[in-house]
Amino acid sequence: MSTPTRFILTESDLPKFWYNVNADSPVPPQPVLHPGTKEPVTPDFLSVLFPMDLILQEISTERYIQIPDEVREIYKLYRPTPLQRAVRLEKALGTPAHIYYKYEGASPSGSHKMNTSIAQAFYNKKAGTHALTTETGAGQWGSALAMAGKMFDIAVEVYMVKVSYEQKPYRRILMETYGAKVYPSPTDRTNAGRQILAQDPDSNGSLGIAISEAVEVAATSNGKKKYSLGSVLNHVLLHQTVIGEEALKQMDMAGEYPDVVIGCVGGGSNFSGIAFPFLRENLKNGQRTRLLAVEPTATPSLTRGIYAFDYGDTAQMAPIVKMHALGHDFVPSPIHAGGLRYHGMAPTLCALYDAGLIEAVAVHQKATFEAGVLFAQTEGILPAPESSHAIRAAIDEALQAKETGEKKVILFNLSGHGNFDLSAYNAYNTGQLVDYAIPEDAIAHIREHLPQVNIPASV
Ligand SMILES: Cc1ncc(COP(=O)(O)O)c(C=O)c1O
Repeated sequence: MSTPTRFILTESDLPKFWYNVNADSPVPPQPVLHPGTKEPVTPDFLSVLFPMDLILQEISTERYIQIPDEVREIYKLYRPTPLQRAVRLEKALGTPAHIYYKYEGASPSGSHKMNTSIAQAFYNKKAGTHALTTETGAGQWGSALAMAGKMFDIAVEVYMVKVSYEQKPYRRILMETYGAKVYPSPTDRTNAGRQILAQDPDSNGSLGIAISEAVEVAATSNGKKKYSLGSVLNHVLLHQTVIGEEALKQMDMAGEYPDVVIGCVGGGSNFSGIAFPFLRENLKNGQRTRLLAVEPTATPSLTRGIYAFDYGDTAQMAPIVKMHALGHDFVPSPIHAGGLRYHGMAPTLCALYDAGLIEAVAVHQKATFEAGVLFAQTEGILPAPESSHAIRAAIDEALQAKETGEKKVILFNLSGHGNFDLSAYNAYNTGQLVDYAIPEDAIAHIREHLPQVNIPASV
């Protein structure tokens, strides 16, 4: 009998609840500070940017939060997503390990980002929002919000990091086709953008700058526009937990349980989405799965960043949060995994990493593309460059198992497809990609750029 490779759930298996790790996390949440006063923010400050339902999710400690029927109905366009065993990749590696992947690229816009864009558009619609602003790196988040906005009749304005806008014109066209307006950031439409352009007219942009622009537009719109973020915040991580909840059921169908769960990390949402339900099983049900976050050596916030309070954006308009950060004014190298170029990381994930409940590793760009190409050649799906970071780590785990002979079970999140990333693949295929790592000297100076905050030792 041939080995079963595809584990498919039905619509009725679609999760009814999101899982909130803050109910079980042994590490207390750190305060979120106002960028001006540096005092803890109030719901009033946040309500300029977000609808109240999302603010309440942001601070909730309830373990399970019901997914509204309207959101579940749209999830059914692509959820439950498949879980697949990568037998051809296993064979190519000659490993005794079993490698499984959860395929979030099955969503209409091509990544896990729709799990939260649909929810955020829903809660905004419920609160009477007519227009949303956002940033995007690779364009995956912008596409996901553009589509969700269209479904709820909300206008969407996207500030796209300039280097990605130029590298990925087809992502822009997709966003425009869904009905969004897209601007290459930094723009001259905002104070934040104009300031950056005055210092460097050729700025490549960064996620930190694009966030500043999108936040400024919403904050100065007299309530006409709200802001939407595709990662980092608790409510975003929460919405992504449908990935891990489904994967738990599917691993059960496969009759195996993962020794290690892997995901790439930009702001931390797809990794948290797959990992947190498995972390719950570790914390509450005695499982011992390793949870491995993978980041680029070009933006190594977890592995080399400083765990401290930093601004969420470059222009210091977004709240200050405690995270592993490279400094809000950090401008990353133009690696092709545009979605992983953020200077910080989700605070909840950072706290769990700091407590030793999560592991992290950084991988180089070329090794990442090598892994992505092997995956495409064996399993057929062209991975997003971001997702290839997870593939690299999964392959490395499988190669270690080959050395030790361990029959390890590996699960990774294939967060998106790379069908719009062909220029990146072309650069790799033609030997034009280079590796980037931040010099030690730059790391040593991060602290000088961080805001001075005065947090009582008890928090
Ligand atoms: C395909 C894909 N994977 C991963 C990420 C990283 O984001 P996060 O860490 O929030 O999952 C992005 C961000 O744009 C993405 O497009």
